[in-house]
Amino acid sequence: MRTLVAGNWKMHKRRDEALALLREVGDGAAAAGPTVEVVVAPPYPYLELAVRTLEGSGVQVAAQNCHEAAQGAYTGEVSASMLAGIGVTHCIVGHSERRQYYGENDAAVGLKVRALLAHGLTPIYCCGELKDDRIAERHFEVVGAQMEQALGAFSPEELGRLVVAYEPVWAIGTGLNATAAQAQEMHAFIRRQLGAAAAHVPILYGGSCKPDNAEGLFKGADVNGGLIGGAALEASSFLELVRIAYRVKHSA
Ligand code: PGA
Repeated sequence: MRTLVAGNWKMHKRRDEALALLREVGDGAAAAGPTVEVVVAPPYPYLELAVRTLEGSGVQVAAQNCHEAAQGAYTGEVSASMLAGIGVTHCIVGHSERRQYYGENDAAVGLKVRALLAHGLTPIYCCGELKDDRIAERHFEVVGAQMEQALGAFSPEELGRLVVAYEPVWAIGTGLNATAAQAQEMHAFIRRQLGAAAAHVPILYGGSCKPDNAEGLFKGADVNGGLIGGAALEASSFLELVRIAYRVKHSA
């Protein structure tokens, strides 16, 4: 199984800071020798800069969202075909912040996944329960419903082209990560939901994943890397996570 570490920059970094971080990540990844798949997701205005700066480094570029239509009168939106046209290879969809602040639901996210696949991009589909769901012990039910509603209509071949990120909402940006056992049991559950595509889909953990807790999290048999927010904003911590992922998954 592939291992992937993806950095979600969210709405951070001025252009000069973004360029410096891209260079450091690109140089670090290029110097690392054999490593895991590395992806960075900067804000839209820096995507083309990212593709150019990271050329030859092995690091791939993701967008943080897209619109489901190819083009049209959708002010403020960006299509999957536009992303593909500038060399972006991945796109995060269904992040909890999109669900929470922009009202995205699973049906809408499913349409985005379809648009991305149609243009040869890899969707990084995010799912995860709220704190109240975890307290009420309905986290499997919630994540199962998200998977079913967003991805239920896709064939195994299509699902096999996805990356899934399990991000418990209570762990995102809170400093409170899921335990390794909580992550592993949810990842195993998600893998079962993927049916015939299960063996092909990396499942990433996201939510306060940092160099000091990553080793335990990545040890889970069904944890195939991480979707990293805060710790992706510094090259040193992001590259450390890449190193940990490689060590835990591939050099033991
Ligand atoms: P965090 O964010 O690592 O800052 O918790 C993860 C994410 O939202 O993808």
